[in-house]
Amino acid sequence: MSTTAAVILAAGQGKRMKSALPKVLHRCAGVPLIRYVLDAVAAAGVTSVVIVIGTGAAQVREAMGDGYRYVLQEPQRGTGDAVAKALPQVAPECRDLLVLCGDTPLLTPASLSRLLATRREASAGACILTSVFDDPSGYGRIVRDASGLVAAIVEDGDATLEQRKIREINTGAYSFEREALEEALSGLRPDNSQGEYYLTDVIETLRQYGRPVAAMAAPPAETAGINTRRELAAAEHILRRWECERLMDAGVTIIDPAVTYIDHGVEVGRDTVIYPFCFLEGATRVGEGCVVGPGTRLVDTDLGSGVTVQYSLLIRSTAGNGCQIGPYAYMRPGTELAERVKVGDFVELKQVQVGPGSKIPHLSYVGDAVIGAGVNVGAGTITCNYDGFSKHRTQIGDGAFIGSNTNLVAPVSIGAEAVTGAGSTITRDVPDGSLAVERSRQKVVPGWSQKKRS
Ligand code: UD1
Ligand code: CA
Repeated sequence: MSTTAAVILAAGQGKRMKSALPKVLHRCAGVPLIRYVLDAVAAAGVTSVVIVIGTGAAQVREAMGDGYRYVLQEPQRGTGDAVAKALPQVAPECRDLLVLCGDTPLLTPASLSRLLATRREASAGACILTSVFDDPSGYGRIVRDASGLVAAIVEDGDATLEQRKIREINTGAYSFEREALEEALSGLRPDNSQGEYYLTDVIETLRQYGRPVAAMAAPPAETAGINTRRELAAAEHILRRWECERLMDAGVTIIDPAVTYIDHGVEVGRDTVIYPFCFLEGATRVGEGCVVGPGTRLVDTDLGSGVTVQYSLLIRSTAGNGCQIGPYAYMRPGTELAERVKVGDFVELKQVQVGPGSKIPHLSYVGDAVIGAGVNVGAGTITCNYDGFSKHRTQIGDGAFIGSNTNLVAPVSIGAEAVTGAGSTITRDVPDGSLAVERSRQKVVPGWSQKKRS
């Protein structure tokens, strides 16, 4: 559809959000609202996109990135003005236009395709996407003539009492024939209650030119625009449900989707089971046959296949096939586990690479370290990586055995197959295959209790 372009209106402030953040950058299921609109447009096969920005323009532009044309609308003088500013930036060969708002994240690609097709088939100047709302207040109403054809859109603030009763509303999504739109826009006047250039006024103008205007209805669940935080939460609920359904359809078991929070675009392999109260966020990927949760949060984290992780928080970390993580593990950014690593309860890891088959089963802090293969890190082991000024590194060779409650004062290196005695504070490097013990010899006083009592 190279001859079709989309214009996305996203310059408005979104006053009712009461936010410093531009409305279209508020997130639903982890992704900015406008991203959903752009994805739906792309999925409908439209590749030429112009975004009208104004409030927080730089932020919106940075968040959406290259790949779109941007038009700055300053000041914002209404939706008609926004489209008029955008049109010169639409590639000349694009004669067929979609005009959408950046705050309708639930619109589906199928509806957008149907919106384009309906206008073309009717040879109409425009096709309006409408919905029938129980409470139409605040929306533009679709006014039809005696024969049932669309005659005009009347804004809520400009509607008569009689028109306010109309429940068919303008969703703010349209398809247009470019010439017809350009012509109708040129006659736009801001003579209305808000003193703005209303895009909606072009509908009546098109009819005056003798061009038919089509309308296509979509379910309200799909067309709702986000204007308030309440509406944001309602959309979040629906989008999260869709994410769970997408994964379930692809072979993932989700025990209770109502309490599972998966961001838009997270990937999960088949036969993975997700227990309740899990959050899979950002660029997270989970392999096949994993068991995730209950009570686990994965942020930008990559898990291989056959991994189990429960009651744990993992941030910007990776774990290879067959790792076992948790309960109560905290993997901070830069943690990389090879295959079959065990990270047990109350273990905090940061900037650490752990080799295959190694185990850190209980109560440890390991940071800024490289751990080889087949290493056993005893309970209570601490890497003392910070001297109050800077961070230092710890290295542990293959097959080493770190005794319980060892303090590894970095920078320090433990050789392959080396052993540290339980309770040691290791400040010097330990060569391969050696034992390092650092603690005072145990004193035993026979009969001491008896003597004390007498
Ligand atoms: C608009 C429609 C209304 C429709 C409703 C659906 C008009 C005049 N009215 O009303 O019929 O029922 O959407 O949600 O079009 N924007 C700009 N520049 C501007 C003004 C707005 O880019 O100068 C953008 C906003 O960022 C937003 C969209 O256009 O994404 C709609 O603007 P908004 O102010 O929300 O319009 P409504 O009053 O809701
Ligand atoms: Ca709106």
